[in-house]
Amino acid sequence: MSASGARSMLPALTPEEERHSEALTGLIRAELAAAGGWLSFERFMELALYAPGLGYYSAGSWKLGAGGDFVTAPEASALFGTCLARECAAVLEATGGEILELGAGSGALAATLLTELEALGSLPQRYAILEVSADLAARQRARLAALAPHLRERVVWLERLPAAPLAGVILANEVADALPVRRFSLSGTAVHELGVTAGASGALTGAARPADAPFADLCRARFAARPDALPEGYTSEVNLRLAPWIASLGECLGRGVLLLSDYGLPRSHYYHPQRTAGTLRCHFRQRAHDDPYVNLGLQDITAWVDFTRVAEAAGDVGLAVSGFATQAAYLLALGLERLVTDAPDARDRARLAGEARRLVMPEEMGEVFKVMALTRGYDAPLAGFALQDLRRLL
Ligand SMILES: C[S@@+](CC[C@H](N)C(=O)[O-])C[C@H]1O[C@@H](n2cnc3c(N)ncnc32)[C@H](O)[C@@H]1O
Repeated sequence: MSASGARSMLPALTPEEERHSEALTGLIRAELAAAGGWLSFERFMELALYAPGLGYYSAGSWKLGAGGDFVTAPEASALFGTCLARECAAVLEATGGEILELGAGSGALAATLLTELEALGSLPQRYAILEVSADLAARQRARLAALAPHLRERVVWLERLPAAPLAGVILANEVADALPVRRFSLSGTAVHELGVTAGASGALTGAARPADAPFADLCRARFAARPDALPEGYTSEVNLRLAPWIASLGECLGRGVLLLSDYGLPRSHYYHPQRTAGTLRCHFRQRAHDDPYVNLGLQDITAWVDFTRVAEAAGDVGLAVSGFATQAAYLLALGLERLVTDAPDARDRARLAGEARRLVMPEEMGEVFKVMALTRGYDAPLAGFALQDLRRLL
């Protein structure tokens, strides 16, 4: 969809929202001016999502769930967490220790996991949450306050990754796609970097300039293995923060499993010639579009995950890639279907069947979302990958 197309289909902002968006635009304009009129998309995305008090994740808009901007798997259905609990229980039985959830959103997954793990007799010693958004951390505290005291007391919020090696499970659902990315486009044999500038009216807009040599080389290296050339004007993203992030998580994991679930692809599919406009998407009140310069601070901006990069970064810190599958295959292997058919009440079965379809149907979350398991010191098979092994595509 074109930028003007996106603008015309989005719901109008309230005057308060207009002021919020304008304040963040002003902050970015000031940084643009100080930087000589051009900012990398990565820096723009960082400010748009995380500028203190104004960025999308730092400020107070209602983000997740049906009344928010987008619906994640734990928001779509507790079935997601119920399946994950089975995997976590098996790991925790072997490793003991804890669960660390990164970017816990509304706290929905934490609530389901603690409840289900108690039912399975495998409660973690503690359930730690590392959340960069103060607004979402406050919502998580409110949500998890409703748990029974013996569950609630296990939950702690961390300011940074634990210094001592962690035994157990680290979880990150839809966190990697929120890491700021750099963008490039191809023009003849040249690589251009897409950044941001302010137009004559002061409105923020995309602007390309020749990439510096290190960035151009890095982009070329990403698609060097492709058998076919990428077409003129081809535009995509490179996430330079992914590898350091995986490295920091890998260093934190002493023994156990790091489970990542997110929109994403192996690299050969990510930089496919037909994916000419990349994977960047914006989410505003349940509408997905591709204009990152509207509704600043009020809409989510995401880019899919290059899972080959995740696997490379994991290998660099000694983690094994122990599973890679679509979300559909992963949840079905963990017994999703039985959770629906075993529900005693017919109305519950109908509701759960609808939720399960959303999690597994290819046109919904089933195919585009992948689950990857990275392990250290844990060799037992992971039940979620019993039906599918896509590691050969990495
Ligand atoms: C798209 S939301 C997903 C929320 C939740 N995991 C879910 O599935 O409903 C992204 C979450 O990641 C958090 N986040 C972004 N970058 C992060 C980082 N580097 N470390 C931890 N959390 C982060 C955001 O604040 C937010 O809670």
